[in-house]
Amino acid sequence: MTTRDLGSLQVPAIGFGAMVLSPGVYGDIDDTRAEAALKTALDAGATHIDTSDAYGVDGHNERLVGRAIKGRRDEVVVATKFGLAIPEEEPSRSHPVGYAFNELRVNAEPRLVRRYAERSLRNLGTDVIDLYYVHYPDPGVPIEDTAGAMAELVRDGLVRHIGLSNVTAAQLRAAHAVHPVAAVQNEWSMWRPVDAELLAAARELGVGLVAWSPLGNGFLTGTVRSLPDGDFRHNAPRFSAENLSSNNDRYAPIRDLATRLGISPAQLALAWLLHQDEHVVAIPGSRTPAHIEENLAAADLTLHPDTLARIDEALAKFEVTGGTLL
Ligand SMILES: NC(=O)c1ccc[n+]([C@@H]2O[C@H](COP(=O)([O-])OP(=O)(O)OC[C@H]3O[C@@H](n4cnc5c(N)ncnc54)[C@H](OP(=O)(O)O)[C@@H]3O)[C@@H](O)[C@H]2O)c1
Repeated sequence: MTTRDLGSLQVPAIGFGAMVLSPGVYGDIDDTRAEAALKTALDAGATHIDTSDAYGVDGHNERLVGRAIKGRRDEVVVATKFGLAIPEEEPSRSHPVGYAFNELRVNAEPRLVRRYAERSLRNLGTDVIDLYYVHYPDPGVPIEDTAGAMAELVRDGLVRHIGLSNVTAAQLRAAHAVHPVAAVQNEWSMWRPVDAELLAAARELGVGLVAWSPLGNGFLTGTVRSLPDGDFRHNAPRFSAENLSSNNDRYAPIRDLATRLGISPAQLALAWLLHQDEHVVAIPGSRTPAHIEENLAAADLTLHPDTLARIDEALAKFEVTGGTLL
């Protein structure tokens, strides 16, 4: 598969987002299905796996990834995150989110960063994390202090590259001044533009962009008509029954364009993203082997400039109903 650079780290243009493999995200899922999905992803070339200590209960998602990379560690770029799975006795601060259900609590204090990393290394069954992100900036801690603690992990060989997730351009600049940042991971998709200032800063500093939820939590595949029980999207205003229906109607021109091109809407959404910047990488999630293979094939699609212009035109008219998640 085509590769791309995230700072000095090289990864496939399309990786694999493992969040979908823990119960309670997109409804229920058992470990057998989760492990099969990871095996499909790795065998098909999605050798950049994105997880977090906060996905699933008690490191469930990292432990799944750990089992999948056993015996093939050298083939895989393992990315994980810290700051949301906070030890009970520790304080935390609120980060605003658009989800209807609760707030996000963060603790990215420097004194805890090594402890987080050691726990993730144990869960993953490895001695080094290739790309280690702060999951959300801590409103109570200057990001340069968190980055300083992450730099110490690089110095001591626990981590190879550092990343930041859900940050602004100013936060990226502040952290990058402390230690080179390989990647910023923010939401970016056809229905959630990335912040222009952040994109400009990443380009200027040579930082890669990892697009989370590149399929709009499944919406952009054109297949979501209703949600199963236990699916976190019930809390997302864009997916309320009424909004989902009107959003699907408004998304029809993009779905139709994909059909005319002979590709799926998911592939068009991913290929469009990869055409936005040479340093963008997408990490779609899926529990379904056929979807995983379909998504990875999008890495090698070339979209004609006229197609890109038509998409931009359609997106300019695509008014999404329901607020954003973050
Ligand atoms: N840094 C952060 O704060 C943050 C936040 C959210 C997510 N993330 C990362 O981003 C990754 C991806 O995000 P995500 O899982 O939220 O959203 P996503 O990749 O945009 O969408 C996943 C959904 O799309 C469906 N899907 C995938 N490919 C499909 C296809 N070809 N056809 C039909 N349906 C398809 C999946 O269902 P099936 O399982 O049925 O295929 C699943 O319901 C996560 O795993 C995580 O690593 C990071």
